[in-house]
Amino acid sequence: MITSKIERLDDEGRGIAYNEGKVVFIPDTLPKEEVEYEITLDKKNFSEGKLSHILHENKNRVLPKCPLYNICGGCSLMHSNIGFQEEYKSNKIKNILRRYANIDTDIKFVKSNKDLFYRNKIVLKVENSKWGYYQKKSHNLLEVDSCLLVNNNINEVIRNHDYINIIDGEITIRTNYLDEILISITSEKKVNIDKNNIPENIKGIVINKETIYGDNYFYDMISDIKFKVSYNSFFQINNYIAGEIFDILRCNLEGENLLDLYCGVGTLGLSLSKKYNNIYGIEKIRNAIEDAKINAKENEINNTHFYVGDTGTVLKNIDVQFDTVIIDPPRSGLNDETLKYLLDSKPKNIAYVSCNTITLARDLNKLSELYNLRKVTGLDMFPQTSEVECVCLLEKNNK
Ligand SMILES: C[S@@+](CC[C@H](N)C(=O)[O-])C[C@H]1O[C@@H](n2cnc3c(N)ncnc32)[C@H](O)[C@@H]1O
Repeated sequence: MITSKIERLDDEGRGIAYNEGKVVFIPDTLPKEEVEYEITLDKKNFSEGKLSHILHENKNRVLPKCPLYNICGGCSLMHSNIGFQEEYKSNKIKNILRRYANIDTDIKFVKSNKDLFYRNKIVLKVENSKWGYYQKKSHNLLEVDSCLLVNNNINEVIRNHDYINIIDGEITIRTNYLDEILISITSEKKVNIDKNNIPENIKGIVINKETIYGDNYFYDMISDIKFKVSYNSFFQINNYIAGEIFDILRCNLEGENLLDLYCGVGTLGLSLSKKYNNIYGIEKIRNAIEDAKINAKENEINNTHFYVGDTGTVLKNIDVQFDTVIIDPPRSGLNDETLKYLLDSKPKNIAYVSCNTITLARDLNKLSELYNLRKVTGLDMFPQTSEVECVCLLEKNNK
């Protein structure tokens, strides 16, 4: 057994210690803790360790509420209190922006209204009729009957699902503000649904893209806007924090023409419909764009133009000078074509919404030649995990 002091946490929430000069990553630890551990992986430049015993505890340590905490690996910060988690996430954004974009800035931080049960969606693997998560860095299924991060309507489905007979595959369960449930399943084997015993709140069941019960969509609310969400559309998983993002955008942006890139079901662009004369949105999932059009109509928003396709490709065919562009890309960040479009067309304002601070920092660095960073807000979209959402407001400089 080796004993070391934890110096700090890395970007994944693992403790960093040093053993004979080599860095060791030890999950489940906190800064300043004195811990005993064993080495589980030894590489040339780093090792990984498994915590065995804590000799000196950080005062922010708490007992993880989930019985599967040590096995599942999903909630990498559940052994710390929420105040510690918020400070860690704020510092994580600060450090990554400094490291990868040479930006030194203050961060405003927005807390979640719930530390648990905040997610409106879960994706589970199914193997031999058992529903669960893959344990971290493995393909070993950990059967679960609930998850402390997801809304309890979803846990009810996980616990009592006699009406769904699935052997292998993947199941996505969503819930909304009306406590309805939308289920989507992919499986190569036959899935049997006992339609006589489906609970009342199940709004729809989709199997391999085919709606076999009810509808393939439902409606959800963020702030004051109602959204149609199809089974395969992206939708923000923490409604409260998504509403806080609306507030940041609404308080800071207004103008003539707004472009919402990677718009999903139109969420961010529609939140600004009263602040711009025209809203344009681009998204690659066809169902999501169809939802976005319906969302505009049903919320009586008449100044929108939505396009389906890859951002880089669609942008070549839109001849509008945008004064503001919102970007909310997938974790991989901006592709080269979209970045080039921004640098060539030079909108006055850019709002970059990101759930991956490293690709955010990479892209901010590329934009820094033409843009100044006005404001950075971190948001606790994913309590108990090391993940954090970030909104950066950029303004065109004089170059
Ligand atoms: C993080 S989500 C943001 C969605 C939306 N802004 C919202 O708030 O709900 C990213 C979206 O980008 C879409 N997407 C990913 N790659 C894309 C691409 N190359 N072109 C267009 N859309 C893309 C995804 O389908 C997803 O809906």
